Amino acid sequence: MIRREIGLPRVSQPQIVRHYTRLSQMNFGVDTGTYPLGSCTMKYSPKIMEKIAAHPQVKHLHPDQPVDTVQGILEILHELAGFLEEITGMDRFSLQPAAGAQGELTGALMIREFNRSRGELKIRREMIIPDSAHGTNPASARMAGFAVVEVPSDEYGYVDVEALKSVLSHRTAGMMLTNPNTLGIFEKRIREVADMTHEVGALLYYDGANLNAIAGIARPGDMGFDLVHLNLHKTFGTPHGGGGPGSGPVGAKGEMTDYLPTPIIERVGDRYRFTNSLKHSIGRVHPYHGNIAVLLRAYVYIRLYGAEGLRRAAEIAVLNSNYMKARLVKLPGIELPFHPEIPRKHEFVASFESLRRETGVSLKEVAKRLMDRGFHPPTVYFPLIVPEAFMAEPTETESKEEIDRYCEALAQIVQEARTQPEKIREAPRETSVSRIDEARASRPSTMIPSYTWLKK
Ligand SMILES: Cc1ncc(COP(=O)(O)O)c(C=O)c1O
Repeated sequence: MIRREIGLPRVSQPQIVRHYTRLSQMNFGVDTGTYPLGSCTMKYSPKIMEKIAAHPQVKHLHPDQPVDTVQGILEILHELAGFLEEITGMDRFSLQPAAGAQGELTGALMIREFNRSRGELKIRREMIIPDSAHGTNPASARMAGFAVVEVPSDEYGYVDVEALKSVLSHRTAGMMLTNPNTLGIFEKRIREVADMTHEVGALLYYDGANLNAIAGIARPGDMGFDLVHLNLHKTFGTPHGGGGPGSGPVGAKGEMTDYLPTPIIERVGDRYRFTNSLKHSIGRVHPYHGNIAVLLRAYVYIRLYGAEGLRRAAEIAVLNSNYMKARLVKLPGIELPFHPEIPRKHEFVASFESLRRETGVSLKEVAKRLMDRGFHPPTVYFPLIVPEAFMAEPTETESKEEIDRYCEALAQIVQEARTQPEKIREAPRETSVSRIDEARASRPSTMIPSYTWLKK
């Protein structure tokens, strides 16, 4: 009856199974191939984490249950917050934010509230952000009401400390940084940057998207950061393609812990409960207590790896990235900007500008051709300070053989750009969706019906 009403076709079980299996095979994920998307940390996530996150004792919990009936999960979350404190050198964490960008907004709102409580809200209006930063940093700062002041990178790819000095003032509310930065370069003058920021009464915010390079080795808290967010879905493994699911817990040090979102879990004797008692809390940033399934996966990941395992994962991530970088920069037309001799961390950024100039083939076309070879394209055109920027992050979970296969595919494409550029211009041809009409795809035509509907 219902089937007839909504017009569903009548099909057999094999037909429906084949249909959905085929659809699943049209997708590309870290389970199907190498996915070295820079800045996104697409590592392979151990399947045990999926099993535990889907366990009936977890998935049937409801956030409105009385706390006495959810003591187990509260204990796990409380313990997870403790692990994150230890890993980052912060004093307390809120697990509420549901993505890295929401963590940034939370941190920026905490800085704003901090200034309000000390009567400086109207004076400290500026947030300093390096020109290599991820776009969400300035967006979050603007959403929290700050004016963004951009600071340039120097010739080595570090924050230009002299330029920073010239923009720091009594108007500075804070500075947002990721370390290693988005070029994959570790800011070695970070203590100096922290001291300079603190000297003018401002706070230093750590964008934890790149923690995979340093987890278990160095801690933002020891570098002088006051606030951090982590991208648990990246560093601590949750499959997160296509924009979700995520988790961006925010940690704070010293007096900034008072500004964290509430409610927050606390332990009293051997029981756990929620408290709203933080004096200057910015309040809720999530309708409930965070993205529990991602938090739980992160907990399992940390327990599985242990301190030694986390360190080893970071070391191998850095080794893999430097190996891939060393192979790729040997290819004609590919260069490593900002002093190639400086070691990169978990990711690196190369420029394909020479190749484009010599052959007319753009990096975007190279990236599409990589899809024909069975690889996910890299992050392209970011950071904005590198022309034809190619950003790769192989992660610790790719083997040397896989990285070699990737580099060989890229070498063939670079050669093709010189000998048969038309082949690249037509790519991808081997994927389930071939080359799309980009002008048409970027027009908002598909949005118009829902937008019209929204306005009604
Ligand atoms: C450096 C950096 N900061 C922040 C973010 C935002 O994180 P999310 O995608 O979880 O919102 C990203 C995401 O790619 C990033 O690479």
